[in-house]
Formats: sequence, C-alpha cells, structure tokens
Amino acid sequence: MSKALALVVVLFFVLFCGKCYGELRVGFYEGKCGKTNVEGVVQNVVETWHFEEKEKDIAAALLRMHFHDCFVKGCDASILLDGLTSERKAVPNSSVRGFGLIDAIKEALEAECQGLVSCADIISMATRDAVVLAGGKWYDVETGRRDGDVSLASNVNLPAATISVSDSIKLFASKNLTQYDMVYLLGGHTVGIARCSLFKDRIYNFNKTGGPDPSMSPWLLAELKDKCPRISLIFDNTYPLDVKTPSLVDNS
Ligand code: HEM
Repeated sequence: MSKALALVVVLFFVLFCGKCYGELRVGFYEGKCGKTNVEGVVQNVVETWHFEEKEKDIAAALLRMHFHDCFVKGCDASILLDGLTSERKAVPNSSVRGFGLIDAIKEALEAECQGLVSCADIISMATRDAVVLAGGKWYDVETGRRDGDVSLASNVNLPAATISVSDSIKLFASKNLTQYDMVYLLGGHTVGIARCSLFKDRIYNFNKTGGPDPSMSPWLLAELKDKCPRISLIFDNTYPLDVKTPSLVDNS
C-alpha cells in the first residue's frame, strides 16, 4: 500500500478521535471475550464477504462509510442508525454501501459476547481488514469507542461532489484538519466508483457551455462518453474513481 493511504487511515484515528468517547488503545478487547479473538472474528467475516464477493469492493464501501461516519460528530457509528431523519437519510449518504457487512460482523460478535463490541470499532477494524485485502498495508487499530445514540440528517455537512477546493479546505479546517490532512484523506479515492450523474456536466455541458471540460484528456472524454451516455436506460451508471486499478489500494 502507498504511504499515503496508510496515513489516511492513521489520520482517521488521530484526528477524529478527539470526538470519540473514552480512552482508545490497541487491543482494547483482548481478554474481554473469553478465548474469542474479537479482531479475528471481524477479520473472518470481512474475508468471507471479500472472497465470496457478497459486496463488490468492500474496501471502497467501508472507507467511504468510515469517512462519512467520522466527519459528522466523530466516529460513533451514528451513520448506521435507521430512522426517518437519521444521518443515513441525508443525501450524501444515499449511496453509502456496506451496511450488510457491518450487520453480519455485529451478529457474529454478539453470538460470542453480547453487547461488548461497539459498531464504531467494528467499522474501524473492518475498514482496516478490507483495505489490507485490497492490497494495502496492515496497521494497528485503536479500539474502545462507544456508539452514539444521536443521528440526525441535519447534522450531515459532508462535502458535495461540486465543492470547490477552497471551500473543501475550509470545511476540513472546521474539523481541525489541515489541507495536508485533506489531501492524504482524499487518497481514499484510490478505490471505488462514482455515479455518472454527479459529473455528467463535465462531459456534456461544462460551465453551461454545451461542451465538455476542455482540460479533460481526449482519451478520458471518449471513455466517459461511452460509459456515461447523455441518455441512459440504466438509472445511474457508474465509473471507477481510479480507472487503471479500481479495486487496488495503491498510489494511483
Ligand atoms: C472533499 C472531500 C470529498 C469529496 C468531495 C468526495 C466526493 C465523492 C463522490 C462524489 C463520490 C461518488 C459518490 C457517488 O457516486 O454516490 C465519492 C466516492 C468515494 N469516496 Fe469520496 N469524497 C471526499 C472525501 C473522501 C474521503 C476523505 C474518503 C476516505 C478516506 C473518501 C472515500 C471515497 C470512496 C472509497 C468512494 C467510493 C465509494 C464506493 O465505491 O461505494 N472520500 N466521493
């Protein structure tokens, strides 16, 4: 894995954890669940989902879920809560994936030790395991988070696809993240997909010119026109964020 993505993940813990509850430490669950290795249970379920392809590109799914959870009032799993006005219902979360995997891990852990492992820790550990399966390096995850019980769509202030660089820097600064942190974190886009509808204007009507963004390479433009037709029978096509190695956690 790239140094960049290792930093991405470390940043999650170091920078967002001021907003988590209690002391975090590596190995928080050791000896708390009899002979069961809590991190091992998480890893087993993640591996099963990865190898059986129960969800495509789980590293992408979980990295984004982790970011969307942590950016809104800290890493407290509030993104998981259901409800008419919960975070999950906010527009930026409408395409977040991976909830079934987190449920499956929680179920496996509940069968071993009821009420012990927080969902916030599950998201953190499972993201690490999925990143490793996608080619990233192993890193220790500090655990001991407690889950939040407040989850409001109105609290969600995640950056939209159209955000400018300067507004993005300001938004990250409002979470005590520097522009360097922001660039490292954006390395998370080494995997995953984006819906065509979010960037179609750059192909067909850039800045209301009726044409494409002139800064785009002819190869990419042709490719995007093919995969993201102006009118499509598919509700919303998608295109990889990293064209060459869409499922690999690497430097591109
Ligand atoms: C300025 C900040 C950011 C913006 C504007 C942004 C924007 C986006 C957009 C528009 C998509 C496509 C969503 C869709 O199709 O519905 C996306 C996907 C994704 N984002 Fe970000 N993002 C940001 C920061 C981050 C960070 C910090 C991470 C993680 C470290 C991240 C990880 C991902 C991943 C992995 C995907 C693919 C998800 C999938 O395949 O399901 N993003 N992002």
